[in-house]
Amino acid sequence: MKTPRKYVLLLLLISTGLFFTSCGGDEKPSDNTSKKAPTSMLAKKSANKTDAKNDKGIGPIKEVTLGEIDPKLVEQGKTIYDAKCTACHKPYKKYIGPAPAGLIERRTPEWIMNMILNPEEMVKKDPIAMKLFEEYLFVPMANQNLTEDEARAVLEYIRTLKASDKK
Ligand code: HEC
Repeated sequence: MKTPRKYVLLLLLISTGLFFTSCGGDEKPSDNTSKKAPTSMLAKKSANKTDAKNDKGIGPIKEVTLGEIDPKLVEQGKTIYDAKCTACHKPYKKYIGPAPAGLIERRTPEWIMNMILNPEEMVKKDPIAMKLFEEYLFVPMANQNLTEDEARAVLEYIRTLKASDKK
């Protein structure tokens, strides 16, 4: 009576084994016409510091020239930022989104404005934004429907937020 029981066990083991192998088979890359690579893979491939220096992002902003900081524009930008961004961003502290302090040293001005104006596409296609989106647990950066002029004013305000002022 011992042998049949062993057989049953053995059969069970084999069939479970087969079951798992056949499942694994479905995950083969040869099948990837219908599947996209996970965001994490794509993001890690191309997001690095050198890219950040050149990455202008994706959106309406192609070229921004920065001059001296314009205090009037800063003030306008701060008003917009306080009304539309502080729900998720604190100037010097990570909150629902990243802190903008020091951002201008990490990103191009074009990238920052495109992230403000076109976040939906940025988090899907721009390697840096994709990585951020993942880091922030897929909470999307909100499109607050700013005009280009408003986004430019916010950028001016962000320029005044230095990482070294962090509290
Ligand atoms: C609903 C919450 C929310 C609001 C409102 C919001 N953001 Fe964001 N923002 C995020 C999150 C979350 C991220 C991180 C990227 C992601 O997850 O998509 C982000 C990322 C960013 C980034 C990129 C930061 C970096 O470190 O590169 C900038 C710039 C930015 N936001 C600016 C703004 C501005 C300016 C406003 C207001 C007009 C604003 N955000 C409003 C949630 C928000």
